[in-house]
Amino acid sequence: MRSRRSVLAVPGSSPRFLEKAQTLPVDEVFLDLEDSVAPLAKEEARGNIVTALREGDWTGKTRVVRVNDLTTQWTYRDVIEVVEGAGAYLDCVMLPKVQDPTEVVWLDTLLTQIEKTMGYEPGRIGIEAQIENARGLVNVDAIAGSSRRLETLVFGPADFMASVGMRTLVVGEQPPGYEGDAYHYILMRLLMAARTHDLQVIDGPYLQIKDVEGFRRVARRSAALGFDGKWVLHPSQVEAANEVFSPAQEDYDHAELILEAYEYYTTVEKRGAVMLGDEMIDEASRKMALVVAAKGRAAGL
Ligand code: GLV
Ligand code: MG
Repeated sequence: MRSRRSVLAVPGSSPRFLEKAQTLPVDEVFLDLEDSVAPLAKEEARGNIVTALREGDWTGKTRVVRVNDLTTQWTYRDVIEVVEGAGAYLDCVMLPKVQDPTEVVWLDTLLTQIEKTMGYEPGRIGIEAQIENARGLVNVDAIAGSSRRLETLVFGPADFMASVGMRTLVVGEQPPGYEGDAYHYILMRLLMAARTHDLQVIDGPYLQIKDVEGFRRVARRSAALGFDGKWVLHPSQVEAANEVFSPAQEDYDHAELILEAYEYYTTVEKRGAVMLGDEMIDEASRKMALVVAAKGRAAGL
């Protein structure tokens, strides 16, 4: 499983940002052809991305390209040019504004054809699906189960809030006038669909890039629910994302202790529920500990 605590958005139209991105300690980069690239710059951006993937040093990072959504005229050429040009240097394709499962199936089929033509390893390139409108959320279960290539669902809060008409202009923050948490249902819906199909689930951008405390607060919300990571738009957000989506050292150490103790008691003493200090642990505790331990190991704790 790939670590995706921090997912850096990089406009494909900017050779400077494509260069800079290579130096940042993020788990994933996605080189963008969609909303951060102006319509007149799309074609040139494809070329920039192919060059950056082939010639750049992306060691240690998951390499993703976000293509344009299927209501545009650009999607098929985005996929063909980027994957034919740099498929061997690419881990996933991100499809934005996914509204129903047929869109993912379309991308899966196209990737299979390109892999055959180019002699790439079959099925190696994964898919990330962005859920960012009402239809996408209503169909999210079917979308999550639509392709073996799918690795993660990604929440797109900016497009989503626009799509449902939510009265907020500050993405990630609560809309004024509503007492509860306007994001709770959406995040939980994504989380359930993703976990039903063994996918990861990633929170989208926080656009107030100067407000790192705001970023942390919003990131903690999705991290607490179980999300695997969050987009970052600026170097200032990178460290915060890596920290918020890694378990605390103390929790990690405790998880490893539970695993070790439980292994001993169940195998040597053949007991199922035992006391570890003041805490009762059983098979369910082992599963919870496994989740924290896996995240901690991936984070190098
Ligand atoms: C990201 O694509 C968003 O719309 O928030
Ligand atoms: Mg979007």
